[in-house]
Amino acid sequence: MSERPSPPVDGDELRELQARLKTRALGRAHRHHAALASTNDEAMRWASEGQAAHGALVTADAQTAGRGRLGRDWASPRGAGIYASVVLRPPVGADSLTWGALGLAVAVGLREGLIQWAPEVRLKWPNDLLCGGRKLAGILCETRWSGSSSNSSRSRPQVVVGFGINVGACPPDVRDIATCLSEQVLNEAVPGRAEVLAAVLESLERVLDQFFGLAPGGPGRGFAAIRGRYEPFCVTLNRVIAIPARGPRREEALREVRVIGLTEDGALWVEPLAGGARFRVDSVPP
Ligand code: BTN
Repeated sequence: MSERPSPPVDGDELRELQARLKTRALGRAHRHHAALASTNDEAMRWASEGQAAHGALVTADAQTAGRGRLGRDWASPRGAGIYASVVLRPPVGADSLTWGALGLAVAVGLREGLIQWAPEVRLKWPNDLLCGGRKLAGILCETRWSGSSSNSSRSRPQVVVGFGINVGACPPDVRDIATCLSEQVLNEAVPGRAEVLAAVLESLERVLDQFFGLAPGGPGRGFAAIRGRYEPFCVTLNRVIAIPARGPRREEALREVRVIGLTEDGALWVEPLAGGARFRVDSVPP
């Protein structure tokens, strides 16, 4: 059963966001809540009412059922981080080349917004942000097709991009695998959530415009537009990872492969350590 969202609150630090925004669209419409089950659910609900414009933003001070990729939880203690979801209305004609790599584009946008406080931030494929091997931020992109089927040229997807950024504190139950901006800034003042969110939305808008081919003069659109700003910071490239074995004779549950590159739509090219041809991988276990 879905929880009823609590009403938007005043008096919260994120109230300052509008004064700090430098974006054209992202965050211009903003609903803030004291607590929600998940900002992604609330943003999807807003989008499906048909009234959320491109860039409409939902934030919460706390989430009671924050979630990550592959069914994982996203711990969301009150005020410790940014829990935000943005509705995207991509241009007509955005194709599968674009969809596959959307999370990677969002990771680039977040990284470029956060490097002023966390210069060492790196990307773990597909879309985790790490500092010193510990997680600073995570991204959850969700798409719902309304109207006709997803392969109809007339159908338009509802896209919600959710992200969580640990700002003032690491959630206690994941302290050994997580970090937060307050640990990264060392001697400088810890930025407020509104300041961080404004910076991230600004860089995210720039990256998404390039990704959707809305910025003239860039290196194409889709993953091609951002590859050069993803790969140099991606810690997964050249790593050995374990993936589920496939094929009819599965002697072992996992097999080791080396990541040798990224496909043109942002999936992994891997090579089995045991030998054999390269193949693509679209998803890896956590
Ligand atoms: C991951 O690392 O697996 C993705 C984490 C995404 C968490 C954010 S917090 C805001 C939004 N609402 C959610 O329920 N999840 C995303």
